[in-house]
Amino acid sequence: MRVAVFSTKPYDVEFLEEANKRHSHTLVYFEPHLTPETCKLGFGFEVVCAFVNDQLNRAILTSLAQHGVRLIALRCAGFNNVDLTAAEDLGITVTRIPSYSPHGVAEHAVALILTLNRKIHRAYNRVRDGNFSLKGLMGFELYGKTAGIVGTGKIGINMVGILRGFGMSVLAFDPCPNPECTSLGGRYVSLSELWALSDIISVHVPLTPETYHMINEQAVGQMKRGVMIINTSRGGIIDTAAVIRGLKSGRIGFLGLDVYEEEGDLFFEDLSEQIIQDDFFMRLLTFPNVVVTGHQAFFTDNALRNIAETTLQNISDYERHQLLPVNRVTRANVRNEK
Ligand code: NAI
Repeated sequence: MRVAVFSTKPYDVEFLEEANKRHSHTLVYFEPHLTPETCKLGFGFEVVCAFVNDQLNRAILTSLAQHGVRLIALRCAGFNNVDLTAAEDLGITVTRIPSYSPHGVAEHAVALILTLNRKIHRAYNRVRDGNFSLKGLMGFELYGKTAGIVGTGKIGINMVGILRGFGMSVLAFDPCPNPECTSLGGRYVSLSELWALSDIISVHVPLTPETYHMINEQAVGQMKRGVMIINTSRGGIIDTAAVIRGLKSGRIGFLGLDVYEEEGDLFFEDLSEQIIQDDFFMRLLTFPNVVVTGHQAFFTDNALRNIAETTLQNISDYERHQLLPVNRVTRANVRNEK
């Protein structure tokens, strides 16, 4: 099939070309994000292959459908950027990669925790500057502390296993409890209990209307003083303004982010020569107890290989009318997952 690949980086080309040796689709790569301005690049293709910050709202999907696009092949797990109602109205099929690096994302979340609790980001700079003073670098041990995992799906469950390995007590919240969590020694509690009892809170939920700004003023107000919050899910889970107020008051002691509400204008690009206009984001970077990575939790060689292979397999399966239901995103699937 003819595929327009948006938001392409050199590593996408490398892994997609390798996987395409087994599929033989016609892949045409476009560097820009899919936006109202760039969507005409997809005209005339049967498939648009998109990533996390591509816009797939009703207007864009309508234009694409009018110009021959029948399949949106997401090369990510989250699908919050797709108007599924519009896609269904227009007869466009949407596929995704339901799982490609649950271990990698969980390991990155743990990397953020360990960076923050042992102040590695500060120590790294200090030592390079010939400053070996330990002042301000005192950390805390994970052993014996309580972690709260919100969302115990594929990534969350890996977090439960890893953090239990550190000797932490693990509390969990998920509307669909996962028996594996309990067998790993996690304990399901209400969300307000999780907020109140956890020393470290890590969120692993999809971005939906229910989870949008789940960590807001009210939630932060219920948390322990000095809590650590980790978000590797989607930026919209956190109300950034509320979290900045929490950091300023000391209620939040540590914040580790791999995602950010307005990351579409920032992440995946080299903006080092530019003036960043987002004042909320820049304020976050001023805190010594905040570490931000630019949506790299998924970014491992295993994951890129899986993403490329599954994306092209989804396209081949669609062509042969053999699409696996688990890889297809429909409103019904989303409802069943909740
Ligand atoms: P999953 O679908 O396996 O698990 C999500 C879990 O969240 C499910 O158990 C679901 O019941 C639960 N959930 C849904 N609504 C909830 C709510 N209101 N409160 C608590 N739990 C709720 O998804 P997976 O693979 O674990 O991924 C989680 C999220 O991580 C994805 O939706 C995606 O946004 C993000 N992600 C981020 C990556 C990165 O590079 N930073 C890479 C891959 C995924």
